Amino acid sequence: MLRFVTAGESHGQALVAWISGLPAGVPVDLDFIARELHRRQLGYGRGGRQRIEKDQADILAGVRHGKTIGAPIALRIENRDWKNWEKAMPVEDSEGAEDAQRRLTAPRPGHADLPGAQKFNFHDARYVLERASARETAARTAAGALAKLLLREFGAAVLSHTVAVGHVRLERAASWEEIASICDNLDSPLRCVDPSTEAKMKAEVDHVLRAGDSVGGIFEVVARGIPPGLGTHVQWDEKLDAKLARAIMSIQAVKAVEIGTGVSNSGSYGSEVQDEIRYDRDRKRFVHASNRAGGLEGGITNGEDVVVRGYLKPISTLRRALLTADLNTKEEVKAAYERSDVCVVPAGGVAGEAMVALTLAGAFLEKFGGDSLGEVRRNFDGYQQQLDNF
Ligand SMILES: Cc1cc2nc3c(=O)[nH]c(=O)nc-3n(C[C@H](O)[C@H](O)[C@H](O)COP(=O)(O)O)c2cc1C
Repeated sequence: MLRFVTAGESHGQALVAWISGLPAGVPVDLDFIARELHRRQLGYGRGGRQRIEKDQADILAGVRHGKTIGAPIALRIENRDWKNWEKAMPVEDSEGAEDAQRRLTAPRPGHADLPGAQKFNFHDARYVLERASARETAARTAAGALAKLLLREFGAAVLSHTVAVGHVRLERAASWEEIASICDNLDSPLRCVDPSTEAKMKAEVDHVLRAGDSVGGIFEVVARGIPPGLGTHVQWDEKLDAKLARAIMSIQAVKAVEIGTGVSNSGSYGSEVQDEIRYDRDRKRFVHASNRAGGLEGGITNGEDVVVRGYLKPISTLRRALLTADLNTKEEVKAAYERSDVCVVPAGGVAGEAMVALTLAGAFLEKFGGDSLGEVRRNFDGYQQQLDNF
C-alpha cells in the first residue's frame, strides 16, 4: 500500500514527508524533484515568500545509488527563511520573549485560525495557521514527484493547466500537447494554454492586487497513459473517482472537485454526455469517441485520460482586511494581514498533479504491486497481454 504523510509548519525549520510502499528499483531523478518544487513556486500573483525560498528536497532515507530500495522514503525541505523565524517558532520553551512571538489574535475569515484556535484551545492563531498553511503542499509536491517517477516507468504522465482565474475562463478544451507544452514553459505566468485568455487572467490578478483583494479559480489535472482497470466498483471506499476527489479536496482552498466534464454533464441529456465505445483493432484496445467521463466509469479507469478539476476559492488573506472578532477581547477588529499570495491557481495545479499522481500510483500498485520494479513490470506486462487477448 502506498502511503504518505507530511509534517512541518509554514515558518518552522523544515517540512518533511514520509512515503512508504514504493517498490525497490525506481530510479530517483533528483533534478526532476527539484523542477517540480520549482514549478509549485511559480505563478503570477504569488507573495514575496516564493522569492526568498528556492525549495529543495533532501532525501534522508529509502534511496541508495539513485534508486529506491523498497524502504520508506524520508525527505526534508528546509525553510530558507528560518533565521527570521527562529525566535517565533523555537522548539524549546522561550516564554517571555514577547516581541518575538508574532502572535495572531485577529482570526482571518476563511482560514483555520478561529476553528483551530477553539479546537486546540489556543488564544494565538499562530499555533494553528502555521500548519494549516498551504506551504505544506511543497512536501506533497516532492512526494508526488516520486509517484510520478514510478508512473513514468510505465509510460504514464500527470500534468495540469489553468482553466479559470477569478472571472476569466478558458472557454475551450485543451489538448494534451498544449498542456505538455505550457507545463514545459516555466516562464508562462499562469500556465494557461491560450495566450489571449492568459492575458485576461493576468489583468484579473492585476485588478485584485490593486484593490487589496484576491481571486480563486480552476485548475485541471490530466493523467495520460493510465491503463484501464485501476480502482474498483465493488466497495464505496475503493472507488478511484472517490479517492481522487478526496485527494484534490484535501488541497488548501479547494472547495469543489470535478471529474471530466461532470459539472456541465449534470445539466445535459444522457445522449449528450455518455462517451460512445469503439474498438481500435491496431492497438487492440477499446477506446471512447469522447472523454466526458474523465477516464473513470464505475470508479474504474477506462483507459482514457484521467481528468480532474480542482475549484479554488479566492485566497482568504486580504490586504483590505475583513472584519473579525479578537480571540481575547472579543472586540470587533480588522483581520490580521500576513504577507500573502493573491492568486495560486497554477501552484494549486502542481499540488493537484502531486495528489493525482500519488492516488494513481497507489491504485497502480494495488493492481500490479510487487516488491521490486521488475516484479511490478512482470505483473503489468501480463495484464497488457490479457488486454491484447481480451
Ligand atoms: C498553493 C497554495 C498557496 C496558498 N497561499 C495562500 C496565501 O498566501 N494566503 C492565504 O490566505 N491563503 C493561501 N492559500 C489558501 C489557504 O491555505 C487555505 O485557504 C486555508 O488554509 C484554509 O483552508 P481551506 O480553504 O481549505 O478551508 C493557498 C493555497 C494553495 C493551494
